[in-house]
Amino acid sequence: GESLISYKGSVFLSKYLHGGIPGGLAHLDNLKNFQIRDDDVFIVTFPKSGTTWMQYIIYILFEDGHPELADNATWNVMPWLEYAKPDSKHPRGENSRLYCTHLPEHMAPQGLKDNKGKVIYVMRNPKDVLVSYVHFSNIFRTFDTVSNLDQILEDFLSGKVHGGSWFDHVKGWFERKDEYNILFVSYEEMKMDLRSVVRKVSEFVGKSLSDEDIDKVVDRVTFENMKTDSKANYDISAMDMVFDMSKGKFLRKGTIGDWKNSLTVAQSERFDQVYQERMQGLPLQFIWDI
Ligand code: A3P
Repeated sequence: GESLISYKGSVFLSKYLHGGIPGGLAHLDNLKNFQIRDDDVFIVTFPKSGTTWMQYIIYILFEDGHPELADNATWNVMPWLEYAKPDSKHPRGENSRLYCTHLPEHMAPQGLKDNKGKVIYVMRNPKDVLVSYVHFSNIFRTFDTVSNLDQILEDFLSGKVHGGSWFDHVKGWFERKDEYNILFVSYEEMKMDLRSVVRKVSEFVGKSLSDEDIDKVVDRVTFENMKTDSKANYDISAMDMVFDMSKGKFLRKGTIGDWKNSLTVAQSERFDQVYQERMQGLPLQFIWDI
């Protein structure tokens, strides 16, 4: 649809909130030169892979051992690299700037490759990504409601959805991982052992928290708690123009394997076929259901 714009092998939102991409597509090219600082942290994901979840974890971790002090909403403290105005001051100030992005690897700021900054790449099994995307489309006012699952499946497999090709995104970042200071985390491991992930992420970003504080972070970011937390669930009146929450919730189900409730056997097999073609030889394993 016209809400998406394809550029250099990826797909972006053309009408994000009021503005879309600030300064037009040249902004995306300019991100190569975005000046990275040593203490910058970037969460990189393909859409619907657990971005918001990791955002909240990172934000709370940066409250320095006082997770109860994290009293701002994630969307206020962690701008999207590709949709934020390039000259704007970071909302948290200039120390430990936290960003998130869906950029493909080949468009990433060069500074990240020069080992400045830290990247946390969150990935999720792509059948659950697809199903989550379908539900998201139904509440995100910018997108059309999905009425034809076969069509969105083909769009997803051929990269005609927000974020572009899931396959290219994951492969792009994974194959070049040695060029970055990067930590890979899967949505599924977050589901199965959240505490270990919070610990691992905290060490990666250089925040060593006590066991007690780790517990506080973990408790705050469970699905149940985030679902009712207006700092994390987008379910506030200020977001009414962005989401129609009468049609569903942003924190929808939060499970592994929900695709089984939506995809037919034929659709799942079609997915497997493309997955095998595209991911062949890549040493990545996903957990598809539990
Ligand atoms: P579902 O639609 O499958 O429920 P993103 O933030 O990248 O857009 O990803 C959104 C997905 O992450 C949604 O998946 C959402 O429910 C899930 N999610 C967000 N917070 C979560 C949490 N604390 N625990 C489990 N899943 C979470």
